[in-house]
Amino acid sequence: MSDIKKIKDEFISKIKGNLNLDQVNKIKTDLFGKNGLISSQFKRLGSIESSERKKFASDLNFVKDELQDLINKKIQEIETKKINKKLENEKVDITLPERPFVCGKIHPVSQVIDEISSIFSEIGFSVEEGPDIENEYNNFTALNTPDNHPARDMHDTFYLDQKKELLLRTHTSPVQIRTMINGKPPFKIIAPGRTYRSDSDQTHAPMFHQVEGLHIDQNINMSHLKGCLNHFIKEFFEVDKIKMRFRPSHFPFTEPSAEVDIGYQIQNGKIKIGEGNKWLEILGCGMVHPNVLKNVKVDTKKFQGYAFGIGIDRLAMLKYGINDLRAFFECDYRWLNNFGFDPLDVPTNYRGRSR
Ligand code: DAH
Repeated sequence: MSDIKKIKDEFISKIKGNLNLDQVNKIKTDLFGKNGLISSQFKRLGSIESSERKKFASDLNFVKDELQDLINKKIQEIETKKINKKLENEKVDITLPERPFVCGKIHPVSQVIDEISSIFSEIGFSVEEGPDIENEYNNFTALNTPDNHPARDMHDTFYLDQKKELLLRTHTSPVQIRTMINGKPPFKIIAPGRTYRSDSDQTHAPMFHQVEGLHIDQNINMSHLKGCLNHFIKEFFEVDKIKMRFRPSHFPFTEPSAEVDIGYQIQNGKIKIGEGNKWLEILGCGMVHPNVLKNVKVDTKKFQGYAFGIGIDRLAMLKYGINDLRAFFECDYRWLNNFGFDPLDVPTNYRGRSR
């Protein structure tokens, strides 16, 4: 067999093998490189008998073309395989069902905290926060609450240690203390947040929400308190007139103290706030007790003011017609879907915002 035929047969079977690109390139060099097998045959041309030279050259050219052709096809084949594999891996299954789009809802309590904050902000109150875990001093002592006061009872308060030094705050009033200790008068703040008491029935939950209000300045008196609360209630319930009464009461941290009731009636099974001859208690308030101001080093000869504490959950239930408080804290998604608010919806019926 001639050399050319040998080369041809050997390399055709090599090229047919399962090769990668590097291996094919190696074959290419082995054949057509400077000292490659085919290149060497071409170098031999001059030394071949002239009678055979023509046929030899023609055979050689033929084999050269054939092998080159095979190599090019092989390279093409390897590249196509590579692309197909890539496509296969990146394939998107468009027959898969779409992912469900779930849009969260704003909890009514968060919505109401937002509404309350914006109403008070409009009349100059800033929003403060305090921790849920409070010390006994801020929660009771600084607020002029005597040692034997029933609120300090274990039945009422969740204490976190044996010595009863740390507790879950029973009201938002300690934020008054924190604000006044850390700042200088005048103070005009509200403090919404979570509060805790050992209580649980249809209208009481062990955790609930309050908003505290505090306004201390040089000439603040009870009529400012009345005006402020009157404005708030009207804005919150979106009514132009509100029936409101201040009932004398007692809180250790205010003197005088009052509880505020608002008038309502039931019309077609729905509660209507602001009119009617029924009364609903919604908050506690009063003029801050001088002992409290002394405890936080506010000069009582110069400064005085009012404070109030409102139950937020109660307000949310009234405004949005929710009648079981416990549902607020059960994390039932169906309930939230029904009573919650769309995050991007500014309530059009809410005057405090759209104005
Ligand atoms: N802290 C009181 C409570 O939890 C509510 C309250 C009443 C707050 C009168 C006040 C206030 O600031 O002046 O029942």
